[in-house]
Amino acid sequence: MNAFEYGNGLLHAEGVLVADLAERFGTPLYVYSRAQLQAQLAALAAGYAAVTPLICYSVKTNSNGAVIKTFADIGVGADVVSGGELWRARRAGVPARKIVFAGVGKTAEEIEYALKENIRFFTVESEPELARISDLARRLGTTGRVALRVNPDVDPQTHKYISTGKKENKFGLDLARAGQACETAARLPNLELVGLHMHIGSQILTAVPFREAVEKVAPLCAALKRAHPAFRCLDIGGGIGIQYKPDQHPLDPATVAREIVPQLQALGLEIVLEPGRFLVGNAGLLVARVQYVKDNPFKKFVIVDAAMNDLIRPSLYQAHHEICAVRQVAEQIHGDVVGPVCESGDFLAQDRELPAVRQGDLLAVLSAGAYGFAMSSNYNSRPRAAEVMVSGSEAKLIRRRETWDDLVAQEES
Ligand code: LLP
Repeated sequence: MNAFEYGNGLLHAEGVLVADLAERFGTPLYVYSRAQLQAQLAALAAGYAAVTPLICYSVKTNSNGAVIKTFADIGVGADVVSGGELWRARRAGVPARKIVFAGVGKTAEEIEYALKENIRFFTVESEPELARISDLARRLGTTGRVALRVNPDVDPQTHKYISTGKKENKFGLDLARAGQACETAARLPNLELVGLHMHIGSQILTAVPFREAVEKVAPLCAALKRAHPAFRCLDIGGGIGIQYKPDQHPLDPATVAREIVPQLQALGLEIVLEPGRFLVGNAGLLVARVQYVKDNPFKKFVIVDAAMNDLIRPSLYQAHHEICAVRQVAEQIHGDVVGPVCESGDFLAQDRELPAVRQGDLLAVLSAGAYGFAMSSNYNSRPRAAEVMVSGSEAKLIRRRETWDDLVAQEES
């Protein structure tokens, strides 16, 4: 489904006019569609129905409590990567037994918190981390469940900053080493070796790397299952790509599932998925108001009130986000959409055909639900944007716009 469509030349978010939302809540404004979040989840679950996976929403993608709760309410768990995310997930109603905790640098405090909460398992990235979990679990008189993260060394053919399963990346352990680490985990006190984990990268647009990765880890899974009675699960991470450009084909989870489900079924393990972008990316947009239109002899610049601090993906990854007018206009112009931040890298689009908007008009930056607000900052002392959740004809403010007071609230003089 696409929750953001034109009717009479006006952009809607489900049953609400985007222009009305901008009037009511101001700009820049993130707008999410609850129906689309739910539809994405349904599509993923249907694709993988044959292995009835535990779906753990990757909270880093969009950590607003209302988004997490939308998924928690329909039985989804959480993939967290910090104590803060664990706290958010619990607060949004995700049961601890549906929470998995990833990350290369978990601190003792974070591990202790997760052990006390009794989460499903830690995905462990190194031997010293195993030792730390074992030690803390012993001190707390409990058991830490662990899944070793394998780096299967496959090329996900995505941007280098978001590929994680190649041998030069910091994540996980290579296959041979992961096998040894599993034996260490099985020997250490107060640890239970429950599975293997992998996450090969993000915004992956073909099923091939997933199939290669599963093929590579399957023999180790089978051996570990034979050797260790508690070994029961394979977590295959996230990574399914979405449509950012009109000519791009999003990856249908059913296509990935068709490629890997036979192997997963043969393993007979519980399957965990950690989707992020696929669930929220296309379910959100960023609305900005045009402040000025400026020409120089070489270029036209549409200067809007959203900037790299609100959406850093174009600056950081040269990511493409479609930009459309909230009220359709027939004419087009060619140029850049830029923000007010004092950096030449502050752009939302470069060298694009754009709607011929004028001062005061509204633009919508599409596919901004994933890694949008979550990666925003206060750079240039810009208060962070507001966030709104639309459901049918209702719109609810799910995070108020920050104020100047918020900017200094943590400071002491
Ligand atoms: N599991 C783990 C262990 C992860 O590290 C990630 C994302 C996910 C799951 C979710 O991946 P997804 O389904 O969203 O591809 N900021 C970048 C993306 C960074 C991804 C980090 N890890 C971007 O804006 O493209």
